[in-house]
Amino acid sequence: MTQPRDQWHRWLLELRHGGDADHAAEVRQALLPVRDEVLDRAALRPDDTLLDVGTGDGLIAFGALDRLGPGGRVIFADISADLLEHCRAAATAAGQLDRCAFVLAGAERLAGIEDGSVDVVTTRSVLIYVADKAAAFAEFRRVLRPGGRISLHEPINVLMRECDAAVFFGYPIGPVAEFAAKVEARFAAIQPAGTDPMVDFDDRDLVRLAERAGFDDIRLDLRVSVTSWRAPQPWDRFLRSSPNPKVPPLGEVLEETLSPAELAAFTAYLRPLVETGRGEHRRALADLSARVRSAAGEAG
Ligand SMILES: C[S@@+](CC[C@H](N)C(=O)[O-])C[C@H]1O[C@@H](n2cnc3c(N)ncnc32)[C@H](O)[C@@H]1O
Repeated sequence: MTQPRDQWHRWLLELRHGGDADHAAEVRQALLPVRDEVLDRAALRPDDTLLDVGTGDGLIAFGALDRLGPGGRVIFADISADLLEHCRAAATAAGQLDRCAFVLAGAERLAGIEDGSVDVVTTRSVLIYVADKAAAFAEFRRVLRPGGRISLHEPINVLMRECDAAVFFGYPIGPVAEFAAKVEARFAAIQPAGTDPMVDFDDRDLVRLAERAGFDDIRLDLRVSVTSWRAPQPWDRFLRSSPNPKVPPLGEVLEETLSPAELAAFTAYLRPLVETGRGEHRRALADLSARVRSAAGEAG
């Protein structure tokens, strides 16, 4: 029997795509330009040591291994032992283990990583789970050598958060808004608005945090998009997915929150919208890069 995996592993390798292997491949494909942008901004040199914090299944870290020269190294860091094990197996299979290290540590305390020992720190969609973001930036600064760089990509959920009771997961839910409110209340109990680390910061906070941690040459690009459609998706997959690793799959929450009659009415209304993509999509994404001053006082 396979061991149950932790919530981070379960989400990245199953619930993000509702257990649908084809959709998993699509999600991964869609993330490749994001990975490339994070690595472009990191301005890698062939012999750099890159630390990818919250590495997950290694999206950024494996991309870095491909770009660095034979003398370049990648440290995979995460709070999930299961994901680190997954990455170690993938690095072994790719014959790259000798260029990799695996560190079980949170962004707030990168225990086991020496002061001034890395050239680049990357994160993608990690600070949104970190309560003490100032501590994380201080740790990034601590482990970087003079002239070292950070390159981060984070969703700024607070900017595009939908506070409209008539919209549920991007779908116009008017006639069944009463049931949607019950479901939303369950999600809000797990991730309280205002205090959850996913929604307690914006793009300007990221800039301030980098500045206060002692970074220089800080650049941030914010990309906001709104579309009046969503990709159509099978209802079962929608129910088996969860929007982020902290919350259970939607199907479980619906079962737990609604009576059978409410669930039937809710499903009858929402299912056709999901299956035909009649929803909207709103998001804001920030890319931040910065440098530590070199010993001579110059950035970079
Ligand atoms: C959405 S996934 C992103 C994974 C990967 N960076 C990527 O681009 O695909 C978030 C990752 O952050 C990790 N994580 C969550 N809280 C963390 C923390 N406090 N410190 C470091 N990693 C954390 C999770 O284990 C998970 O691997």
